[in-house]
Amino acid sequence: MDDDAQARSGTVVHGGGDDAVGRTLVSSDDLAARVAELGRQITTDYSGRRPLLIGVLKGALVFMADLVRCVDLPLEIDFMTVSSYGSANKSSGVVRIVQDLDGDIAGRDVLVVEDIIDSGLTISYLLKALAARAPASLEVCTLLIKEGRQKVEPDIRYVGFRIPDEYVVGYGLDADQCHRNLPDVRTLGQEGT
Ligand code: IMP
Ligand code: MG
Repeated sequence: MDDDAQARSGTVVHGGGDDAVGRTLVSSDDLAARVAELGRQITTDYSGRRPLLIGVLKGALVFMADLVRCVDLPLEIDFMTVSSYGSANKSSGVVRIVQDLDGDIAGRDVLVVEDIIDSGLTISYLLKALAARAPASLEVCTLLIKEGRQKVEPDIRYVGFRIPDEYVVGYGLDADQCHRNLPDVRTLGQEGT
């Protein structure tokens, strides 16, 4: 297949970057089906309430955009940007809030929307910081969680997929800011798979 034909097929790697993108771990069809399920569950669980969904940028952008359209409630959204000190791919547990929420969360039913939980340090820090602001409730919805990797065991109410300990990109997740626009979740392959 030439580049043009590949681009039109919508299944090939795009987004640039030097690292080869590997095999598909979660396809766009499976993502859509699971996100719809999560949306239905959230709709049921928060029935009669007006939840505030907080997307953690930048990784949760794509998941958040799809998820909110699967929740049939009068919800509100807000975003925060956090950055973890340490190397690019390893969380140190020391997290800085780079951009904070627009609004107050006191008394609100807050649902934090995350892309992926690896060590669990980032989400634990975030939950502690948000809990101090006295929300009525505080839960987490993560698209992905890496199995067996958590150094701390945060209580996660909604999980999209449990995945093995591999670095993944796509559907919002990046490697060095690249590959967020891939429609599938894929491994970052070294062996050109
Ligand atoms: P944790 O603090 O170790 O749980 O790391 C969480 C954050 O690290 C996530 O919100 C991501 O931003 C990033 N991260 C961890 N694993 C991956 C991955 O496989 N792909 C892309 N980003 C990841
Ligand atoms: Mg993240």
